[in-house]
Amino acid sequence: PPVDTFDYIVFGGTGDLTMRKLLPALYYRFRDGQVPADARIIATARSPLSREEYQARAQQALQEHIPAASLEADTVSRFINLLYYVSLNGAEAQSHWADLRTLLDREPATRIRVYYLATSPALYGQICENLSKQGLVTKQSRVVLEKPIGTDLESANAINDSVGRHFPENHIFRIDHYLGKETVQNLIALRFANPVFERLWTSDAIDYVQITAAETVGVEGRGAYYDKSGCLRDMIQNHLLQVLCLVAMDPPVSLDADSVRNEKLKVLHALKPIKPSEVAIYTSRGQYMRGHVNGQTVGSYLEDLGEGVTSETETFVALKAEILSWRWGNVPFYLRSGKRMAEKCSEVVIQFKSAPWTIFSNRPAANRLIIRIQPDEGVMLSVSTKDPTPTDSLTLREADINIEFEKAFNIRYPDSYERLLLDVVRGDPILFIRRDEVEAAWKWIDPILQGWSKNEAPLEPYPAGTWGPEGARNLLAQSGHLWHEDMK
Ligand code: BG6
Repeated sequence: PPVDTFDYIVFGGTGDLTMRKLLPALYYRFRDGQVPADARIIATARSPLSREEYQARAQQALQEHIPAASLEADTVSRFINLLYYVSLNGAEAQSHWADLRTLLDREPATRIRVYYLATSPALYGQICENLSKQGLVTKQSRVVLEKPIGTDLESANAINDSVGRHFPENHIFRIDHYLGKETVQNLIALRFANPVFERLWTSDAIDYVQITAAETVGVEGRGAYYDKSGCLRDMIQNHLLQVLCLVAMDPPVSLDADSVRNEKLKVLHALKPIKPSEVAIYTSRGQYMRGHVNGQTVGSYLEDLGEGVTSETETFVALKAEILSWRWGNVPFYLRSGKRMAEKCSEVVIQFKSAPWTIFSNRPAANRLIIRIQPDEGVMLSVSTKDPTPTDSLTLREADINIEFEKAFNIRYPDSYERLLLDVVRGDPILFIRRDEVEAAWKWIDPILQGWSKNEAPLEPYPAGTWGPEGARNLLAQSGHLWHEDMK
């Protein structure tokens, strides 16, 4: 069913995120009948564009990012009609706020307003202050913040304080698009609807856990942002820690947003701090060199940044996290992410303990549950079965129980933004990050950054198109563990 009607006001309306993700996501929801016909999408940015010029850009973006088969001409033109444009510098008090106000005032003040800040986080505070001074923050207004919320705990707190002066916490929606992924939400279903898993979800049965988000792309023209950020801030502080929370949390008492977020927060609080002096033991960081990805030669990170540039920024991180709790004592959670790796693959691997004894001539392999977040979304459980090859003894062979969601349900997997953008309109924060979660995550990440800045762990080069530096393999080898690709 459609959501209540709304005005979506996007700051950074001409930017890459808006064109590549937000407009296509809203288009799909509109096409599927969830966006009311009188909703408005009001883009703002500094460029002096007319509404028609903006609509033409938007139409081009849809054509670039949506397969032709999903673009019905009539639907596209009705969608484009929802778009407005106001040339405005959101960070400046003296800008064209009157134009925005006039447009918003055409509709009753009771209409839901979503202010989506797809700008540099450095501007979040000023934009919110201007919205507030201009009297544009109504009772039905919400604000959406894109990551990164800061670059460390201190800067995150400064951003959260300044936004919090103008919006109450329950109207602040901090996006982590990994939570919008169907398969990430599915972790909740898989764990808490299937006793067969949840009963085994402890250190009694689980040996270790791996969470990987590997990409084959490089920095893709985002070098200016990425070089200041690096993989730890870009992927681990937010996306991977969120997935870790969903894998490790205790059952929430209900699906109420705060019940779920309270359980996630408990996991973040239980993470064993990694001291700056310990980063060489617990982390591995790397930077890609020239190499081959999918059969093509690609340049190094430094080449991608531009001629004559040097940089110590990591494009790969692997780390060992420990959760100090009854459930997870002695179960390492290995997290890793990187650019220019061998395959695009985000997955969770639950490695169960092996059987304590065998009556067979060969040892059964320990069971492994693989939750594939993307691509090829699905769940796979490896089991030992009887080897059907005729022999004189009963020997074992590993086989997989495999669910491929797209085949099982015969449905297009929506992009993560599709769900999240309308959840903001619905006012449902379950898939958004509460302030205390951001703080707890930075609190754990900060000492690692400090250790690295003192060069306590070397930055290791790795050839593009591989699974990262040797240090990542050693991190697991110390405990006799293997990364997924080395188990095959
Ligand atoms: C973003 C990061 O948050 O996530 C990017 O800033 C990264 O660097 C992207 O490429 C990965 O998202 P996905 O959905 O492709 O796994």
